[in-house]
Amino acid sequence: MNEQLRRLAGYFNRALFCCLLICLVLFFIVAKQSSFQETVTDNSFLYTMNYDVSSLSDHSSAQIKYGHRLFTQTNQMLGAFSDSTQQIYNSALSCDNCHLNAGTQAYAMPMIGVSKIFPQFRGRENKIGTLEERINGCFERSMNGVVLEESSAEMKALIAYIDWLSRYVQKDEKLIRRGLKSIEIPARKVDLSNGEAVFQRECTRCHGEDGQGQLLADQSDYEYPPLWGSQSYNNGAGMTRVITAASFIKYNMPFGIDYREPLLSDEDAYDVAGYINQQKRPEKANREVDFPDLKKKPVSTPYGPYADDFSIAQHQLGPFQPIMRFYEEEFGIKKTK
Ligand code: HEC
Ligand code: HEC
Repeated sequence: MNEQLRRLAGYFNRALFCCLLICLVLFFIVAKQSSFQETVTDNSFLYTMNYDVSSLSDHSSAQIKYGHRLFTQTNQMLGAFSDSTQQIYNSALSCDNCHLNAGTQAYAMPMIGVSKIFPQFRGRENKIGTLEERINGCFERSMNGVVLEESSAEMKALIAYIDWLSRYVQKDEKLIRRGLKSIEIPARKVDLSNGEAVFQRECTRCHGEDGQGQLLADQSDYEYPPLWGSQSYNNGAGMTRVITAASFIKYNMPFGIDYREPLLSDEDAYDVAGYINQQKRPEKANREVDFPDLKKKPVSTPYGPYADDFSIAQHQLGPFQPIMRFYEEEFGIKKTK
């Protein structure tokens, strides 16, 4: 009996030893990989390089300069403030109203390096998409218009400008501070009355009591763009997702702050994003055909159909954690937005 016990204990010890050994090996593999990733991803210098187009010569860089003008004065060239023969979209926004600082601001969906990561898989179309198609996604939704002809001088100039902003980046290099910085999503529904209070306190002095922005004195453009209404982004835009808007607002608004010194709490950013996105804005046609694979739809997409049974109200205003949990348990998909 004793002998048997001792043998069992021996087996047990050996099994334990093997487990420990496996753990140790796994630990080293993971540690090695993450330190490897860190060394290739420290490209923060990208955000302090010189992206001033005025230093370029007109002669060789006319296309880049034209692209920069299209990116920063889009509404005067192709939008609500343009000559009607040129107009391809209805909003009064310009690209740089959201992609701040002419597309060079970290965590304000910068264009730096973006040329090098397209073509890229996109869930909304469930296929590999080009940079031209991605830009046209913003023309149709964020700008509330139609697509810009891919062979047009305007599309080529926008691409030339984004290529120029991407000139220090290697193909498929992982970019830090790309896109938006995530907030900690409150585990509750958006509080619309707090959202309204935050709006009154922090936003109206620029965007106006009615959210319609303020025109420049000569009326040639907005000094502060509209947040809803006929001249704002439509209801198919990425900015209408509460999680996306909250991340943008937290780390970029009130205008003048950046991700290093945010002013709003995650709660306030979440509530004010919900409040803005409950207001009336232009309608995007055919939204129901977005995301042919519904499982890939971000949880805060404010319109159906969905691959789940949560209500539209919950997709618009949360709480989002139960929806995220459903996708993880049901389909093994981890969702962050
Ligand atoms: C109302 C705000 C808004 C405006 C105006 C806007 N965009 Fe965007 N853009 C977004 C959002 C939000 C995303 C990210 C969407 C997402 O997460 O799916 C995005 C993403 C992009 C991307 C992909 C970036 C990446 O890192 O993958 C490109 C390229 C782009 N926009 C170009 C443009 C251009 C060019 C214009 C002007 C014609 C424009 N956008 C106008 C909000 C805007
Ligand atoms: C000091 C003025 C100022 C304040 C305060 C301010 N914004 Fe803005 N906001 C701007 C400007 C200017 C832009 C466009 C940026 C650009 O073109 O460079 C902008 C752009 C935006 C955009 C994207 C473009 C659009 O029209 O939809 C959103 C969304 C936004 N602000 C939300 C907010 C929210 C929410 C608050 C309050 C928490 C806020 N802003 C406070 C000045 C301000």
